[in-house]
Amino acid sequence: MTTPSIVRTSTAELYDAHVMKNYARAALTLVRGRGTQVWDDAGNAYLDFTSGIAVSALGHCHPHWVAAVQRQAGELIHVSNLFRNPNQGELARRLVGYAGPGRVFFCNSGAEADEGMIKLARLHGMKKAGGEEGRCFKVIAAKNAFHGRMFGGMSATPQEKIQKGFRPLVPGFAFGELNKLESFAALVDDQTAAILVETIQGESGVNPCTPEFLRGLRRLCDERDLLLLLDEVQCGIGRTGKFYAFEHAGVRADVIAMAKGLGGGMPIGAIWAGERAAELFQPGNHGTTFGGTPLACAAALAVLDVIEREQLLAHVTNASGPWLGSLARLAQDFPAQIVMVRGRGFLVGVQMTTDPAPYVAALRERGLLVVPSGGNVLRFLPPLVATADELAKSVEIFRSVLLAKA
Ligand SMILES: Cc1ncc(COP(=O)(O)O)c(C=O)c1O
Repeated sequence: MTTPSIVRTSTAELYDAHVMKNYARAALTLVRGRGTQVWDDAGNAYLDFTSGIAVSALGHCHPHWVAAVQRQAGELIHVSNLFRNPNQGELARRLVGYAGPGRVFFCNSGAEADEGMIKLARLHGMKKAGGEEGRCFKVIAAKNAFHGRMFGGMSATPQEKIQKGFRPLVPGFAFGELNKLESFAALVDDQTAAILVETIQGESGVNPCTPEFLRGLRRLCDERDLLLLLDEVQCGIGRTGKFYAFEHAGVRADVIAMAKGLGGGMPIGAIWAGERAAELFQPGNHGTTFGGTPLACAAALAVLDVIEREQLLAHVTNASGPWLGSLARLAQDFPAQIVMVRGRGFLVGVQMTTDPAPYVAALRERGLLVVPSGGNVLRFLPPLVATADELAKSVEIFRSVLLAKA
């Protein structure tokens, strides 16, 4: 009998040999996190303003979250949706409390939440068409949108870099200009079932819907019996200082997709639908094995607990004002490098005059992690618990990089 030899291989080598190559990853292996900081395998600390792309709402290893997950892991992890579990019921109740009367469906990711919304749009269209399938099915989305990598969401994402190689796509999507109500209105016809937008486009460069545009979409949906589908996967769960970003505009959604920050690092997604749309799903027409496990819901409940107990919505609102002000001053001081700063709360995009990749690398070398986004944008996504000092530190590091490149 041969004993297997123990080969010590570096993480970089393991990735090179065995992990699919669909990401252009930074040459950085992260091994530990606490609060707003992460450490690499050489012991270097970084201020994590990626939050795992808007996921780690409470930062890393928040004690309340860790205790809740540890407790639940020792109690019951998974039972499928063939049975009830108390955490799913309680989480649905809490989310209905934030979104309004309606119902929640749990899934595992943002893409899956978006697929569920698109399926609700199809069912709504069928109902509008008197129960006939395939007559009313169009969804109008926005140019530059991002709704995930599965076929429905990808078909609603009119970007060559995302769709190339995967055609033919799902039919039935048309695209209007963000913040131009007339361009959406012109696309509505008898075949249209829904309008789908990100309240703030995250992946394509932090482009917010204006409140007037959102209110206009709401009116259009009411007039033409369309569902208003709001993708809050990136901008929701407190990131802008309201639980949902569309609350700033005072509008009502028919369906909301959420994920990312909801689990604070545990994969979980959800769709909330208002009472009318929620009835469209009936036993058998949608589902997922892992959605709403006791463990994932315990994590999400812990996120909501901390958002409420630590008053993180108020914190994001208060702390983001001075921070955005400091970033705007950098834009004034370095006009050759920065075009503009936009966004809200802790979802901020800094549009650079050139490719942001060298800035991402230079910031990393100085201990700050940020995410590039479309249109030459550097995205700053601090955890909701980031302190005023940590926000100020990010500006200081950014200024040093801008000075070095000036
Ligand atoms: C607005 C929006 N929708 C959907 C998705 C897809 O989410 P996931 O990566 O969890 O599938 C993302 C991810 O970035 C997103 O920003």
